[in-house]
Amino acid sequence: MHPKVKSVYTCNNCGYQTSKWLGKCPECRGWNTFIEEILYKKKSRPALSKDQEKIKSLDTITTGKVKRITSSLKEFDRLTGGGLVPGSLFLLSGEPGIGKSTLLLQIANIYSQTGKVLYVSAEESEEQIKIRATRLGINSKNLYIYTQTDIYQINQTIEKVNPIITIIDSIQTVNNPDIDSVGGTVTQIRECTNILMNKAKKENSIIFLVGHVTKEGTIAGPKILEHIVDVVLYMEGDKNHQFRILKSQKKRFGSTSEIAVFEMTSKGLNPVNNPSSYFINQDKKNLPGSVIVTVMEGTRPIMVEIQSLVAPTNMAYPRRVAEGVDYNKILLVAAILEKIIGTPLNTQEIYLKIVGGIKVNEPSIDLGIAASLLSSYKNKPLEKGTVLIGEIGLTGEIRPVSYIEQRLSEAEKLGFNKIFMPKANLKNITKKYNELKIYPFEYINEIYKFFNNKK
Ligand code: TYD
Ligand code: MG
Repeated sequence: MHPKVKSVYTCNNCGYQTSKWLGKCPECRGWNTFIEEILYKKKSRPALSKDQEKIKSLDTITTGKVKRITSSLKEFDRLTGGGLVPGSLFLLSGEPGIGKSTLLLQIANIYSQTGKVLYVSAEESEEQIKIRATRLGINSKNLYIYTQTDIYQINQTIEKVNPIITIIDSIQTVNNPDIDSVGGTVTQIRECTNILMNKAKKENSIIFLVGHVTKEGTIAGPKILEHIVDVVLYMEGDKNHQFRILKSQKKRFGSTSEIAVFEMTSKGLNPVNNPSSYFINQDKKNLPGSVIVTVMEGTRPIMVEIQSLVAPTNMAYPRRVAEGVDYNKILLVAAILEKIIGTPLNTQEIYLKIVGGIKVNEPSIDLGIAASLLSSYKNKPLEKGTVLIGEIGLTGEIRPVSYIEQRLSEAEKLGFNKIFMPKANLKNITKKYNELKIYPFEYINEIYKFFNNKK
């Protein structure tokens, strides 16, 4: 044990530190988030002269070609930029019960065909994992299950087993006995993650951490964790639906952020190769409030359905509820509709959601949101086969979006035939889309006639 030096108070939400206990965090505004943590003096530092050897002239540093380990699971490989890079630390985060342990057990099984995989469970017993494995049809000799919460024991075991991949399920239940606070606190998570980070780099192996997130979507406790690891994978989806979306957020070794879509079945997660067809149901008839938009997930266009319900209310402050899109986006689009088209949404409640549990956050869905709100308000559907693309400026103009041709191709491929799109994007179209009738939009009020004249 190191001698106690002092205690600090750390916000368990965002990691903000102060020397006094506070009821409300000045950083993230959370209430009652501060916990006391004891700091200990660090061990003596290595002599400075020794460290000078690490200084190298840039032209003497050589790089081998990064060798990625692929998995035979195409969706997963695409997400990781073409396979896992040895020496990297991953964080898989998601709400409890979303399917993180299931996915990692499946991944562990796939990689155990290539080499040894160590699955460290700090949450579940061997039996529980065995039951899950049996359900998934997994029974690999090269897959080692180890139940342990002590980070030093885990560290030593990784060294001894020397696996190509180690999975820590979860980082919140692992703890460092040298630190006085309980597992799951900011200091514990940071210390344990640092130990594992060093391990991954030193052994040039791959380590996956499971991190639970709170309802609000932040990684429970430490945002800091996201900065330490090389790649963050977020698992999202509506627990009551079968879709699970895996997003990669930060990649030191790749470029764009990608998503992979899985379906939760009774035998685990199955990759979905054509996500668009999953998020929209083309068989049903078009109902008021329902519209189809395209979103780009990395380099891939995906079509999703927006549904809204606009209903009259007597409340002075009508409710606005958003699911899958930013709440402020709804307020903004509603304000534009009120001001420019004169739709009296101030007397209406608004509920808007993206179907299928996917979260979208790009300006190109503005036109779709506006159309969805108007459609529900007027109780008139858009014609079947319509797709909406376009950002709305504060003055009501329809602004161009990126990747217009990819979006059109995807819409055409899935059998849509009417496209509402920014006029300013027409010049970006070089291909011919024979199946598509294109309606160029310059201004938001042009949408109005599609609800007044047509059913
Ligand atoms: P789990 O991987 O335990 O979630 P997490 O580790 O993120 O907390 O998955 C939990 C849910 O997945 C559970 O409600 C049962 C369901 N499930 C299936 O539907 N099919 C399966 O084959 C498995 C193993 C789990
Ligand atoms: Mg789990």
